[in-house]
Amino acid sequence: MSTAVCLSGGQVLTSQGGLEVADLHIADGRIVDAPAADPLRVDCRGYWVLPGIVDVHGDAFELELHPRPGVDIAFPIAMASVDRQLLANGIVTAFHGMTVSWEPGARSLEAGRRFMAGLQALRPRLTADHRVQLRWETFAHDAIDDVAAWLAQQPTPAVAFNDHTTATMEKVKAGNHQKLGQWAQRAGVTVQEYLAEVDSVGQRAPEVPAKIRKVADLAGRHGAIMLSHDESSRSERAIHRGLGMSVCEFPLDPEVAADAVANGEHVILGGPNVIRGGSHTGALSAEDAIRDGLCTVLASDYYYPSLLHAAERLVDRGVLSLNDAWGLVSRNPAAAMGLPDRGTLEAGRRADVVVIDGSGPWRLVHAIAGGHVVSLGR
Ligand SMILES: [Fe+2]
Repeated sequence: MSTAVCLSGGQVLTSQGGLEVADLHIADGRIVDAPAADPLRVDCRGYWVLPGIVDVHGDAFELELHPRPGVDIAFPIAMASVDRQLLANGIVTAFHGMTVSWEPGARSLEAGRRFMAGLQALRPRLTADHRVQLRWETFAHDAIDDVAAWLAQQPTPAVAFNDHTTATMEKVKAGNHQKLGQWAQRAGVTVQEYLAEVDSVGQRAPEVPAKIRKVADLAGRHGAIMLSHDESSRSERAIHRGLGMSVCEFPLDPEVAADAVANGEHVILGGPNVIRGGSHTGALSAEDAIRDGLCTVLASDYYYPSLLHAAERLVDRGVLSLNDAWGLVSRNPAAAMGLPDRGTLEAGRRADVVVIDGSGPWRLVHAIAGGHVVSLGR
């Protein structure tokens, strides 16, 4: 069902970046110039009317699928709940950061297959636009055929190149076993078994560079957006840029972020980092990076509410204007992920809109996803 909608009398964010009291018209899932006959009228007086949030990387869905170690919730139940959470937090386009790793358990290739098949089947019943960021662990040697098959699906997933394995191997070598218990638990194996897995994938390290080139080539041929994850040096950025990884995700050093921005590339940091006032892993402070012009996109990372409230905090603390803060969660992520049909409220765009009461602590009042209105109460 897609009815005509009129969001009436709100303060609409214009493409010039100002707020203007106006009616916003929606028909057939798109923003339109002319009012339609007999629309559903939504009273937006006193509220902001902003483009819907685009989340380039969220993995809080993992907690819905596996609320406790070893506990699995049926995919349709878990993802219907995720859909509602996204909308309640203003996220109308979500790229699920789905890790495909060599680990057994929740991040295994098997789990990835279940996730991708489950999402394709469920998509028609979901309200937000659910997409996938394939977080391919570059030591997941045996996942490439699956990655190739997923790249041929519609909508084309984005591919993020992740290497957490090298650091894991270094920690193991240095006798730093601090996080091993947690990782083994996630994988559903004993610490001894986890160590054996690390050892076995590590043996195949020489295969990794050619596999990165192969996946980059596949992604390029499908027009997939490529992101590189956790870069620590400009030389790494340069190599990845050469392979087509045009988006820099969670750089570990401000120099990497500066190099990306200087090259016109988007730099992603985490919304939780902003709302918590720093990184939980001691990495770059997102708020500092934003002040320095080193971050163009925020991702929900592990907490969906973080995007709305990161924008709120940046405005409240005078770091950015409303237009620029909102750009970090809507306009820029849409551009970074190659989605020119969203991120602004111009006629012809997808009707992805959020209505916010900004008179006190920010409160989402309505989320409109592809023209479908979801109201969140008083
Ligand atoms: Fe990471």
